[in-house]
Amino acid sequence: MKINRNFDNLVPNYLFAEIAKKTSAYAAAHPDEKLIRLGIGDVTLPLPRTAVQAMKIGAGELSLKETFKGYPEYEGYDFVREAVAKYYAGFGVTVGADEVFISDGAKSDTGNIGDIFGADNVVMVPDPVYPVYVDANIMAGRKIIYAPGTREKRFLPMPDESVHADIIYLCSPNNPTGAAYDAEQLKAWVDYANQHDAIILYDAAYEAFIEDDCPRSIFAIDGARTCAIEFCSLSKTAGFTGVRCGYTVIPKELARDGHNIHALWYRRQATKFNGVSYPVQCAAAAVFSQEGQKEFKANIAYYKENARIISKALDELGIFYTGGKNSPYIWLECPKGMGSWEFFDDLLENAQVVGTPGEGFGSQGKGHFRLTSFGDRENTIEAIERIKKILR
Ligand code: MLT
Repeated sequence: MKINRNFDNLVPNYLFAEIAKKTSAYAAAHPDEKLIRLGIGDVTLPLPRTAVQAMKIGAGELSLKETFKGYPEYEGYDFVREAVAKYYAGFGVTVGADEVFISDGAKSDTGNIGDIFGADNVVMVPDPVYPVYVDANIMAGRKIIYAPGTREKRFLPMPDESVHADIIYLCSPNNPTGAAYDAEQLKAWVDYANQHDAIILYDAAYEAFIEDDCPRSIFAIDGARTCAIEFCSLSKTAGFTGVRCGYTVIPKELARDGHNIHALWYRRQATKFNGVSYPVQCAAAAVFSQEGQKEFKANIAYYKENARIISKALDELGIFYTGGKNSPYIWLECPKGMGSWEFFDDLLENAQVVGTPGEGFGSQGKGHFRLTSFGDRENTIEAIERIKKILR
């Protein structure tokens, strides 16, 4: 018997598992200290009330013979898919409800989508970026090339005609840097993908944080329907990190290598995924109602205020940072020339604040660090006071 030897090529722990391990060890050794966690992008505000009500009604239906439901549709119930399509229409993008697949989140889908692609495709990944794209493709044994997102490029790598890729991951607004592509930049990626017969895997998990005119979807760009798949999640939009629900949009006409991509993904999902529970799909549809949108936008405004508080402190300390505007993340340069894990240890030991070392998002993250604005207000303010104290 042989294991998948590609696992030998992974870093030993998934980034956020490594941070959780280090944090737990510190907490166990210092039981009296209050830790403030601004590491993993996990939400702290409760779900929109409208979503919880819908979830309760959905659960109630399951308790009656007349309304009971068993296995859901593989691609999600029509009422949720229609709600998603209507949400897109709300920001001027047309996608068909029958192009939407409801899932348990963007993390699973951005990793699992690789099932439908051959192992010999070349995968291009921006650096720094969400580590799931790299780890999932290492597991599949694919060759990965990096598009460096340096500070000079405002952390937004652009295509290089002389470099060929078959699969391109883009994340906009970017996790971890918060940088968002504008329409012209996205058009350049779409043109590159169409010319290279490549597919863009576009992670829009943070689209709801966009506050300027950057596109909320790759499908706002001409030509994207013949080269892109979009992933989104209700985790950061509406606090579903624990509830689990997301969606993936695949245009019906998207084809490669003589195969229809929508049909392949349906085939994959029907085989390996039994869908999202009915009460959760009810909650998801409610998120996109008028009231639901009002409620989640209020939560996002709360997190944005946290981001403003963090940014103001970094301004006072004279520390370079990006993000916090179209994104819940603040991406900063580690002070005093520290390495990113060194700064992680420094903050943990001397301020009892947990952040995320930039290096965990790629080699371009060296010397950088990510803080999230998903904490509650009181803890965010306290964390900032503690950070200021050790850095002054
Ligand atoms: C993050 O902190 O980058 C995200 O919360 C991780 C995730 O969404 O899986």
